[in-house]
Amino acid sequence: MKIVSADFIKSAYSRAHWVDAALPEIAFLGRSNVGKSSLINSLLLRRGLARTSNTPGRTQCINFFLINDSFYFVDLPGYGYAKVSKAMRADWGKMAEEYLADRPQLDLCVQLIDSRHPPTPLDQQLNEWLIHNRKPHLAVATKSDKLSNNDLRKSLNAARKALVATTIIPYSAQTGRGRDELWTEIKKSLNN
Ligand code: GTP
Ligand code: MG
Repeated sequence: MKIVSADFIKSAYSRAHWVDAALPEIAFLGRSNVGKSSLINSLLLRRGLARTSNTPGRTQCINFFLINDSFYFVDLPGYGYAKVSKAMRADWGKMAEEYLADRPQLDLCVQLIDSRHPPTPLDQQLNEWLIHNRKPHLAVATKSDKLSNNDLRKSLNAARKALVATTIIPYSAQTGRGRDELWTEIKKSLNN
């Protein structure tokens, strides 16, 4: 995919602020700090477009990015960050679920998991929710540069057992590994 333009459009804290366009959307979701914003930047080859940080729980809203004036990337709030209040956690879950459940132009859900750890119970819950609700989805195992080939292979095998019926693409925002494969999948779902 040739990226002609990639622009941050807005942060939405409630449904009223979701973008008001009928363009297709690709959503990125996963636990806090798993590398959602880094993945978006690496796909778009735009350093710093989506804000990344070492402090988990930075992205607490839904961020919309317009690509080539023809589709949106949607950065959803991360889940599973223990150090925030229960109420805040519930809010995030509600925000993300409301979006996922009720967005006709949502073409693909990209679920991120950390290749260094087995999928968490929340990762599994989300995956089951996507399958149950028939959302087109695939998984990306992030930070693959941090593992040896052998450990990565083991980790992918474990992830495949936990996330059944889900394609898993190993990815590294640092080296660009998996970038072409993920774009191929994104293009496929945009063409459907
Ligand atoms: P929240 O918005 O807080 O939910 O986090 P996020 O999922 O957007 O994660 P973010 O992209 O901010 O990345 C979190 C940390 O992981 C940062 O320190 C990144 O530099 C690092 N990171 C992300 N992707 C990779 C990767 O592929 N390789 C390596 N080595 N580090 C990565
Ligand atoms: Mg983020």
